[in-house]
Amino acid sequence: MVEIVPSILSADFTRLGEQVRDAETGGAGRIQIDVMDGHFVPNITMGPLVVEAVRRSTRLPLEAHLMITNPQEYIQTFAQAGADVIIVHQEVCPHLHRVIQQVKATGRRVGVALNPSTPVFLLKDVLSLLDMVLIMTVNPGFGGQDFIPETLPKIVELRRMLAERNLSCDIEVDGGISEKTAASVVKAGANLLVAGSSVYNQRETVKQAIERLQRAAT
Ligand code: DX5
Repeated sequence: MVEIVPSILSADFTRLGEQVRDAETGGAGRIQIDVMDGHFVPNITMGPLVVEAVRRSTRLPLEAHLMITNPQEYIQTFAQAGADVIIVHQEVCPHLHRVIQQVKATGRRVGVALNPSTPVFLLKDVLSLLDMVLIMTVNPGFGGQDFIPETLPKIVELRRMLAERNLSCDIEVDGGISEKTAASVVKAGANLLVAGSSVYNQRETVKQAIERLQRAAT
């Protein structure tokens, strides 16, 4: 089942709780929170305080996308803040297997994210441990960027790797997802489509935006 996952990065932070509830009533099945530390990516956004605030605003599952160095130092913090899924970047986890174990030990689901230039084969020895792989379809750091089409073959390859191993891991994509790109990522094998600026676009309600993207994706 293909699902649109609103990212609050492009939400109106002067009314964040309302924007989160808009996503819930608009049909979202989960929310993504983009955590950035200004080291791993050239932007600083939000941390556990915002996860706690969003946790108080919705019953939906929350994904904490940790675009930070040393994520292993913050797993417990984000789990306690209310994240249901914790996503770390392969590029900053030399001991990725241990970090995956650390997330699973909190009882949360675990995802690993790959930047556009990071090959999917790097995950072959931990795929069976993952609830999700997040394929970045932009270079992480900002919302509203253009989709990178060269990432499509990575989605196809990952879906093949999962099928070969008979694994039911989700494939999530993030960055530049709009009505123009949704169908191509689903065709390639993605089932979770993170969308920030195309959901919180101020031109229509969040519900209308989610429904428009859902139609484009199916
Ligand atoms: C990394 C962030 C963004 C965000 C979605 O830059 O992870 O990709 O979630 O941004 P949009 O949907 O506006 O490209």
